[in-house]
Amino acid sequence: MSFISVNNVWQRYGDQVVLEGLNLHVNEGEFCTLVGTSGCGKSTFLRLLLGQETASKGQILLDGKALAAEPDASRGVVFQRYSVFPHLRVLDNVALGLELPRSRLLGRLFGKAKQDAREHAAILLQKVGLGHALDKYPAQLSGGMQQRLAIAQALIMKPRVLLLDEPFGALDPGIRKDMHQLLLELWRETRLTVFMVTHDLSEGFSLGTRLLVFDKVRVDPHAPGAYGARITYDIPLNSERRKALAAELGATSK
Ligand SMILES: Nc1ncnc2c1ncn2[C@@H]1O[C@H](COP(=O)(O)OP(=O)(O)OP(=O)(O)O)[C@@H](O)[C@H]1O
Ligand SMILES: [Mg+2]
Repeated sequence: MSFISVNNVWQRYGDQVVLEGLNLHVNEGEFCTLVGTSGCGKSTFLRLLLGQETASKGQILLDGKALAAEPDASRGVVFQRYSVFPHLRVLDNVALGLELPRSRLLGRLFGKAKQDAREHAAILLQKVGLGHALDKYPAQLSGGMQQRLAIAQALIMKPRVLLLDEPFGALDPGIRKDMHQLLLELWRETRLTVFMVTHDLSEGFSLGTRLLVFDKVRVDPHAPGAYGARITYDIPLNSERRKALAAELGATSK
């Protein structure tokens, strides 16, 4: 059984079909990069995976079960920009994730639990290279640092799936390279299943284990909304990385 199964998924808004008949099976630990022309529905697909929207038709299964109707801790997300809280310091931005789920019943964490949450957040921030910036506000960070913060914020909840929507699109090429390194390290360490949208084809090919190309196969010039995009190519990448992943999956399933 696949970790994630997308079965004949369609998404339409009014009379505009955005995605049509998507079928996809992804093993745990795979790193999928998603490319396609602007407006073809990549972000829509991520929203479906996140559970922020429900498909008009078809089903997405995670571990054999239908996705929860709202986002939960099993899936983390990082957007191109603005996914951190501007009024909170770096450490609080990340520790908050651990504090919030409990706060509905108990209020914010106190004492030892709060201390633990903050220590845990500080360790993760160290790992993403922000150990020196715990007391800063997001506006005091560079774009790359803000995205490191957003990644830490997503990872603190220990999601099984990480959704990245052009997370490095606004960064300089040099900084992007560093972010690729960081992301690959985190991926290897955590064995997360990653879906990452990118407009940068070389990024799409060099990161990850699998490249998914979204494209509209059918086009009716008189009815632009009549047809949606499909996954037209599903290309295996980085054979070494795939082999390592397959070996690990084999070892854990024994
Ligand atoms: N909530 C919505 N209501 C109506 N239409 C929507 C909604 N969300 C997306 N769309 C439409 O769906 C299409 C796909 O949008 P989406 O943002 O998924 O594309 P994308 O591939 O992520 O594009 P980009 O590469 O520019 O980010 C667009 O035509 C958009 O206008
Ligand atoms: Mg998009």
